[in-house]
Amino acid sequence: MTANDQPHRDRPDDGRPDLPNGMMLEVDDLTVDFDTPSGNLRAVDGVTLRLAERETLAIVGESGSGKSVLSRTLINLLAGNGRRSGSIRIGGRDIDQLSKAERKHFFGVEVAMIFQDPMTSLNPVKRIGVQITEAMRYHLDLSASAADKRALRLLELVHIPSPAERMKQYPHELSGGMRQRVVIAMALACEPRLLIADEPTTALDVTVQKTILDLLDELRQERRMSMILVTHDLGVAEGRADRIAVMYAGRIREITTTDRLFADMRHPYTEALLNSIPRPDLPSHTRLHPIPGRPPNLLDPPKGCAFAPRCRYAQPDCLESEPPLDGPHGHDWACFHPVGTPEGAAALAANEEAGVTAAGLSMSESEEEFV
Ligand SMILES: Nc1ncnc2c1ncn2[C@@H]1O[C@H](COP(=O)(O)OP(=O)(O)OP(=O)(O)O)[C@@H](O)[C@H]1O
Ligand code: SF4
Ligand SMILES: [Mg+2]
Repeated sequence: MTANDQPHRDRPDDGRPDLPNGMMLEVDDLTVDFDTPSGNLRAVDGVTLRLAERETLAIVGESGSGKSVLSRTLINLLAGNGRRSGSIRIGGRDIDQLSKAERKHFFGVEVAMIFQDPMTSLNPVKRIGVQITEAMRYHLDLSASAADKRALRLLELVHIPSPAERMKQYPHELSGGMRQRVVIAMALACEPRLLIADEPTTALDVTVQKTILDLLDELRQERRMSMILVTHDLGVAEGRADRIAVMYAGRIREITTTDRLFADMRHPYTEALLNSIPRPDLPSHTRLHPIPGRPPNLLDPPKGCAFAPRCRYAQPDCLESEPPLDGPHGHDWACFHPVGTPEGAAALAANEEAGVTAAGLSMSESEEEFV
């Protein structure tokens, strides 16, 4: 993979020293396999990516594409039946080379994660205040009163009204939106440099979603954090992420700046994803086009490109070998017949004429769903 450009907006300086090479995260050839009763399941397959200091990278893909496994692996949380290969460097440090004390510091202070289900991060029988202060007291060695003061400030920061009263409440006494703000406050408690937010708003209604995502973005800019924003919705990433990585069946299929992805996408899966989401710039009656078929069974993935059975561009070569992820000027894609190129146009025209793709997808059936 080529090195991608890592543009970021101007952000205020908080006095923290810059990282040696400006890189928050460097992931190389990361693969995660799970032993299951039905055999080996490769959930993450050769992922290489870079995240610059203060940058937001969105990881987008359908359910089961490996977003959560990748995120959890980045913070060193791998299920017991999992094996990882490849390297992860955070702030220039290889996480496999950390001592026990450094590991505790890294994954307690430097890196924080907001998990997909906020309730899994909250203990139902502990008051909110205790839950926020626990991590600070443990990792930052703060006194009870200093931690309390800081927790109050954090709750204010995430716009929780009457924070002193909220500190005394239990999670079930709060609305879903308020609970998610508490989870964000907890993640920010130790001032992480890298925040990984795994679908931070899926359980919430659309207006609360927007408020929480805007809040996260605001906090990221204020606090000079880098962020990985995991979502199945390209629309959520638009306008909030500097770059987007599109994942399918454990691999990154396209990665570039957000603007370029929307204006000049190359991967047929990116195009299909974009056609399947509501767009604010299109009239509300515009039909959405679900992607035909289903993602592959990762216990028995197809030979060649894993998207081929669902791809309207698929040609015989797609069934033989996996296309490499590559491209010019910070825009990489993994496709033999990319969208917006003469090869892609020829592949689509040939399939339309034949009525069927090389992988057996009926063009008229997919058209019904697609056009
Ligand atoms: N511990 C495990 N053992 C076996 N398979 C697992 C394990 N954890 C995850 N998987 C499998 O890994 C694949 C990727 O799962 P993952 O949770 O990362 O998907 P995702 O992209 O986060 O999906 P969603 O959008 O639904 O959250 C899935 O096929 C899942 O069933
Ligand atoms: S054109 Fe071929 S390589 Fe590209 S996404 Fe479709 S099946 Fe995969
Ligand atoms: Mg997930």
